[in-house]
Amino acid sequence: MSDLRFRVPPGGSLAGRLRVPGDKSISHRAIMLGSLAGGETRISGFLEGEDSLATLAAFRAMGVHIEGPDSGRVTVQGVGLHGLQAPLQPLYLGNSGTSMRLMSGLLAGQAFDTVLTGDTSLSGRPMRRVVDPLCSMGARIDTTDKGTAPLQINGGARLHGIDYDMPVASAQVKSSLLLAGLYAEGTTCVTEPAPTRDHTERMLGGMGYPVSRDGARTCVSGGGRLHGIEVDIPADISSAAFFLVGASIAPGSDLQLQHVGMNPTRTGVIDILRRMGASIEIGNLRDAGGEPVADLRVRSAVLRGIDIPQELVPLAIDEFPVLFVAAACAAGRTVLTGAEELRVKESDRIQVMADGLVALGVNAQPTPDGMIIEGGVIGGGAVHSHGDHRIAMAFAMAALAADGLIEIRDCANVNTSFPGFVELAARAGLMIDAGS
Ligand code: S3P
Repeated sequence: MSDLRFRVPPGGSLAGRLRVPGDKSISHRAIMLGSLAGGETRISGFLEGEDSLATLAAFRAMGVHIEGPDSGRVTVQGVGLHGLQAPLQPLYLGNSGTSMRLMSGLLAGQAFDTVLTGDTSLSGRPMRRVVDPLCSMGARIDTTDKGTAPLQINGGARLHGIDYDMPVASAQVKSSLLLAGLYAEGTTCVTEPAPTRDHTERMLGGMGYPVSRDGARTCVSGGGRLHGIEVDIPADISSAAFFLVGASIAPGSDLQLQHVGMNPTRTGVIDILRRMGASIEIGNLRDAGGEPVADLRVRSAVLRGIDIPQELVPLAIDEFPVLFVAAACAAGRTVLTGAEELRVKESDRIQVMADGLVALGVNAQPTPDGMIIEGGVIGGGAVHSHGDHRIAMAFAMAALAADGLIEIRDCANVNTSFPGFVELAARAGLMIDAGS
């Protein structure tokens, strides 16, 4: 694996106006559901990152004609729910857990067999959380003995609806089962223990597929149809989060972030930062094709440590690496609990962030389900991202408030979710250098 390193000298501030790349979760779903729809789906704002491109390539390999991406524009000629063709080879999904988990459900309902593979990180991530409930719907899927990829999905299974009480708050599991539900006889219902991102439900509805939602319970019945639509994908709030924290911790910052997705199942990062004292203004709140978007203005502020409410955890699940950096700069103690899911993301984000923060002189104590951080001074030093895109970008932002240079190893996977991060961050004022 290439060892791209970021080197970021201390200090600086963030200013100006920028638009971060498109939302990763919505980009995956636009390709998947656009492929299963009848007619054309025209996408703008598509994330041209490795994860969503892996999904795009997988559907091309199943016979879907897809034009682009060209400056975020993609056109998908949908083949209908039963129009996919058997791929000639295993589908390689790189680092992308969303591709693998959502596609498992969708492919369980096909007439043909598929094999899903991924990189070392993805091949270590738990897949039984989707495979077990899918098998109880009648799917036939084999994993390794450890419950990991490669996944062998055997086609021709007759699926039937189930009523599933999800043990973990996971939008990937929920979405996987709902996608299988499109192919199942009867009704598939998923009840979530806490609200998680609902992009699948929104897009299914936007494409004319009936979805019933009653509190924590979401149901679909098999046998319907999807029709192609226009999808305007907002900027990814999970990518904007690095700048929300960077501008908050860097004195003298004043930054505007445009067209940011504001789906209430994703805005936990704003709630948490505001509770810590951040200055974030939300302007021009509007609708973009069924998803709320807004322009954000963030200025530097004095942050204070907080106990992060557990109900905000699923609403900010991808933002904890950079929120830990905010906590390291805050006055007092920040305590995160109820976030054991962080241990099975692209890396073990509790351990990897704690190790990195400690290497920078921060008093950070990992716990089984979270972290305790005493805010103070961030020092310079070398940290390892373990190939995790969000860890790399979080530590790059930490340099804004550090008192020495931060070097971050193994940063190539930043391209999975945020192509152009180095250039965009540099334009905003981060003194970042990328090299080997
Ligand atoms: C995602 C759901 C979340 C999130 C991931 C994207 C999605 O995962 O961490 O980056 O697009 O559905 P979980 O469902 O495992 O929490």
